Amino acid sequence: MLEHDVLVIGAGLAGMRAAIAAQAGGANTAIISKVHPVRSHSNAAQGGINAALTDRGDDWEEHAYDTIKGSDFLGDQDAIEIMCQAAGDSLIDLEHMGVTFNRDDEGKLGTRAFGGQRRARTFFVGDFTGQAMLHVMFEQLVKSGIRSYEEWFVTSLIQDGEQVAGVLALEIRTGQLHAIRAKTVIFCTGGCGRLFEPSTNALIVTGDGMGLAYNAGARLMDMEMVQYHPTTLAGSGVLISEAARGEGAFLRDRNGDRFMEKYAPNMMELASRDVVSRAEQTEIDAGNGVDGCLFLDCTHLGEALILEKLSQIREIGIDLAGADMIKEPIPIRPGMHYIMGGIKTDIDGLTNVPGIYAAGECANVSVHGGNRLGANSLLDTIVFGERSGNHAASASRDMDFIEFNEDEAVRKEEARIQAMLDRPDNGDRWGSIRQALGDTMNKNIAVYRNQAGMEETLRLIPELKARYAQVPVHNKGRVFNTDLVFALELGYMLDCGEAIAVSALERKESRGAQARTDFPTRDDENWLKHITVTRGEEGPELGYLPVTITKWTPEERKY
Ligand code: FUM
Repeated sequence: MLEHDVLVIGAGLAGMRAAIAAQAGGANTAIISKVHPVRSHSNAAQGGINAALTDRGDDWEEHAYDTIKGSDFLGDQDAIEIMCQAAGDSLIDLEHMGVTFNRDDEGKLGTRAFGGQRRARTFFVGDFTGQAMLHVMFEQLVKSGIRSYEEWFVTSLIQDGEQVAGVLALEIRTGQLHAIRAKTVIFCTGGCGRLFEPSTNALIVTGDGMGLAYNAGARLMDMEMVQYHPTTLAGSGVLISEAARGEGAFLRDRNGDRFMEKYAPNMMELASRDVVSRAEQTEIDAGNGVDGCLFLDCTHLGEALILEKLSQIREIGIDLAGADMIKEPIPIRPGMHYIMGGIKTDIDGLTNVPGIYAAGECANVSVHGGNRLGANSLLDTIVFGERSGNHAASASRDMDFIEFNEDEAVRKEEARIQAMLDRPDNGDRWGSIRQALGDTMNKNIAVYRNQAGMEETLRLIPELKARYAQVPVHNKGRVFNTDLVFALELGYMLDCGEAIAVSALERKESRGAQARTDFPTRDDENWLKHITVTRGEEGPELGYLPVTITKWTPEERKY
């Protein structure tokens, strides 16, 4: 029997950081991931990681305030304080592990400006910071000797009552199912970006952890808060890092005008993401774009800077849009990038389900609230990955493994999977259901929302679920059956989509990423609270939790 005190599900930055901490805390730890760790979506984080270093004259409280204001005052201030206080040490730890952050002319760690922040406090490696961090973290994982189940897909949680007892997982290479006993599991499975089409997210970002935890009784929170990034490339929707604007790039309309002057006269292109994306969508809707896009102009930055600091996004522009940012503005538009919501946790990653922890994008410790600041997500993964690993390790010392009948558990799961494989071909495909979900989310739960649109999506999702229940899996084999894996993922995507849509419809105000044309203003009196979703007998059930305010009183947001 495979068994571990702490089983981390997902091997991106949060997952590997959690596993390393848990192992260092003396727990028998393993990590399990549907992809090889360095193929995790953390790879795609481009611009950097925030930290307020005192020797630069910066101050964690300024970082905390910028984060709270960025969140449109929906972030929990106790968690934000913890993250911003820990940032400096976490950054230096990463540097000592071997992350080769860019240096400034004096040879010190260099910074760039990022949106919604009054100081340049974003540390970076060119425009591939996540990739650089992920590879260094993988080296640490290997060094630590942690057992890694690579290309294993968790298909179910095993619970005794509510208490988690382990997981069932499909070894993708062979198609064999395994039971793994665990005292605690930490979900670090990333977001659910791909239930919007297009999205900046990798195709693997399908809300698996959120869906599994939700089905196990965990609370999801702030699911309506979906971030549209202001600069995603025309057509493909691939991320064009905020680093470009941090280095001084402009946003221009069809006439070449810098329209941000109208919306954020002080911060201009570096207002918070929700503000910039709304400004762009307003301009596009008013006919001031070209083919549904505006332009990111880097031409004045010069070839040398672009080649040194923005080389990846330059290549993306050339390869995917035929536009070289050294020579011409490139076409961009707002695109789905990140979900602020997720599995509700406390500051140590604990959820309401005994034995289940979460960290990183799949979690919601509430450091992003209504809108995340760019470069706070890498920080979130490192700080709260480590905290949940530490807590799970120490909690598991006082816990016993829960016995369950491994053979029976595997047999039942085998029957469920085989039933999916045995479904008759009815002409439907999981791909067309996934596309329909992506289209409706991107149409109705986007930069701007209204009641009629959200209700349309909420009428469609049950129809998609009914189709999903019958959808055939064409590949009947067991070896590397990605057809089966994609079909399994779609179930989680539909659950997450429903949770997002019901929460967005429920919040009758505009705050952060939730901009309702039918409720255009923020309403602190009625909606300065979190919306939670749990799985009920009849479908999603809504609840509310207060926002933790420590010392920053909500005020009107201006940039
Ligand atoms: O624009 C970017 O580089 C994205 C960074 C982030 O989402 O934190």
